Formats: sequence, C-alpha cells, structure tokens
Amino acid sequence: MILTLAERIREVETAFAKHQTDKLTHGYAPVYATVKWGILDILELGVYRGASVRAWLDLFPAARIVGVDQSEPLDPTTSERYRLVVRDYRYAIEDIHPGGFDLIVEDMYHYVDSQVEAARLYYPRLRPGGMYVIEDVHVSNISALEAGLVAAGLPLGEIIWTGPWATPPLRPDDRLLVMTR
Ligand SMILES: C[S@@+](CC[C@H](N)C(=O)[O-])C[C@H]1O[C@@H](n2cnc3c(N)ncnc32)[C@H](O)[C@@H]1O
Repeated sequence: MILTLAERIREVETAFAKHQTDKLTHGYAPVYATVKWGILDILELGVYRGASVRAWLDLFPAARIVGVDQSEPLDPTTSERYRLVVRDYRYAIEDIHPGGFDLIVEDMYHYVDSQVEAARLYYPRLRPGGMYVIEDVHVSNISALEAGLVAAGLPLGEIIWTGPWATPPLRPDDRLLVMTR
C-alpha cells in the first residue's frame, strides 16, 4: 500500500496519540513521516515508559528497536523486536550491536552537553541514508548545540521547527536537530 505524505503524517500522529508520547504535541509527526517505512534498525536514547518505542513498533513493522535508558521503564514494552539496555547512555555503546541504525532518536534530558556527547558517541553508528534526530532543542540552545557539534567534528545538521503541528503551536523547545549521513 502506498500512502501519500499527508496520509503517513496522519498515521504517525495516530500512533503517537495511541501510545501517548509527547512527540505528538511537540508536532514531530511530519518529520518522522519522512522516515522510510521499511527501515530495519532503530535506536532510541531515552525511553521512559516506552510510549515512543511502542509507536515505532507500530509504524515500522520490519524494524528491530534498541532502547537505552538509565532507569528501568515503569511500563516495560515486550516485543521480540525490542531490546532494552538499562544503562547510562555513556556506558551503553558496547551493548549496542555494531551493525548500525537507520534511525537514531536522542530524547533524554535535553541538555546541550549530553546532546553533543550522545551524538559524538552514537552518530558514527548511523548507517548511510539514515537519520539522527536530537529532540526538544530549546531555541535558546541552538547556537550552543551547533557549536558543540562542530567542535566534536560532527555535521551541523538542520534545525527543523514543525511549529504549526505543535500543541500549543508556539513552544520554545519543539525544535529538532536532524543529521543525515
Ligand atoms: C523524555 S523521557 C523519554 C520519552 C520517550 N522517548 C517517549 O517519547 O515516550 C527521557 C528519558 O531519558 C532518560 N535519560 C536521561 N538521562 C539519561 C542518561 N544519561 N542515560 C540514559 N537515559 C537517560 C530518563 O531516564 C528518561 O526516562
């Protein structure tokens, strides 16, 4: 079945709403709707209750998902396609399979230092054609984040603001920084 982009955005919004991840109210559906349906490997840094993991399981039916979180999620998700690594992201890289990922989502505490450090560690695991997403970039942090990425030898990436989709539509922390490879 081939969907139009508008239909896929609707599908992503529906999954985000069903699983109650704040990716919906941040307005991120149009960006994730551009990720290929058939991707095979997803890594999410910062899982919390597993809401976004369950959305990825719905949205990418062929994908194996690795989640990293420093604390055991309160509502663990079980699926043959999902593996959780309970560890601080700085010490989890050895537990991540070396084959790489098509989508890496960094949704931890949104401090610039950890955003840069996580990208330094995990961006090299992004496959060609893949997408590395840093979520919830606060407008006041954009310059520091870009400077940190450049200093770490990483690509600048692109700041994306999906403002009109966010609820409410004017929030300071609903920017994404997207790096491709
Ligand atoms: C915003 S929540 C994740 C929400 C989830 N991605 C979703 O959309 O439903 C942030 C999570 O990042 C985790 N986290 C924060 N700092 C971390 C670190 N240093 N290493 C691993 N996980 C961390 C927290 O434990 C928390 O569960």
